[in-house]
Amino acid sequence: MRRFALIGLPLGHSFSQRYFTAKFATEGISDCIYDLFPLEDISQFPSLLDMHPDLEGLNVTIPYKEKVIPFLDDMSEVVRDCGACNCIRRTPAGLFGHNTDVVGFEQSLQAGLQPSHRQALILGTGGASKAVAYVLRKKGIAYRYVSRRPSPNSSMLTYQDLDDTILSSHTLLINTTPLGTSPAIEEAPPIPYDLLTAAHYLFDLVYNPPVTKFLQEGLLRGATTHNGSDMLVIQAEESWRIWNAK
Ligand SMILES: NC(=O)c1ccc[n+]([C@@H]2O[C@H](COP(=O)([O-])OP(=O)(O)OC[C@H]3O[C@@H](n4cnc5c(N)ncnc54)[C@H](OP(=O)(O)O)[C@@H]3O)[C@@H](O)[C@H]2O)c1
Repeated sequence: MRRFALIGLPLGHSFSQRYFTAKFATEGISDCIYDLFPLEDISQFPSLLDMHPDLEGLNVTIPYKEKVIPFLDDMSEVVRDCGACNCIRRTPAGLFGHNTDVVGFEQSLQAGLQPSHRQALILGTGGASKAVAYVLRKKGIAYRYVSRRPSPNSSMLTYQDLDDTILSSHTLLINTTPLGTSPAIEEAPPIPYDLLTAAHYLFDLVYNPPVTKFLQEGLLRGATTHNGSDMLVIQAEESWRIWNAK
């Protein structure tokens, strides 16, 4: 049996496990299994590998996308550059880290992107924000992070800094915080929504519910919106491609 798995904490209801289990069933892939391995601490990772020599591929989620990097034998340029890894291929040569969120976000963002979207705000500074920032750099879109606790001496903004000048020049807004995820669907990043216009493009990495409060507020003001559903599917398929690459 070829084993694949997700590590993180907590794992609860995992999209990845549901997705791959359904994929194996519908595509008649009978020699693969996708497990969930919640790890209390990333230091448990080597013993997990020892216990499961048949583990060929892993997805990595909160809170280990950055913490898993020291355990890798090698990594893609993307992981090296953005400092986050959400996909690992295990071969006899060792563990090779990838970042499939980057591919997922890049392809998915394209749906509503216009030449006018030259400056972006990334809401949140966690693991997923690193993949987003990497894609924006690649596309030549300038960006600033918005954080509850900006790093000292950085160009990060606080939510209180967001005013008419910033919102009128930064027309691409990407939510990489978990705010608005079911069941807390009334939550949304604390930005001045009244300053949004039809020129804005709001991208939410959250996918459940499909229309978060963040996106609803944008839709009310004529903004273009996109949720994280297709990004999720694209990153999963990219993981599968990596695990099966010759
Ligand atoms: N659609 C997809 O394919 C996809 C892929 C990856 C992730 N995601 C989703 O993206 C979200 C973030 O993932 P992640 O791995 O980056 O998580 P994370 O590492 O926990 O980071 C989330 C960031 O959001 C900010 N934040 C957290 N709680 C907040 C709160 N109560 N109020 C305001 N800001 C808050 C924090 O930044 P500050 O402390 O700087 O404010 C934090 O670093 C999750 O909901 C995840 O499910 C979706």
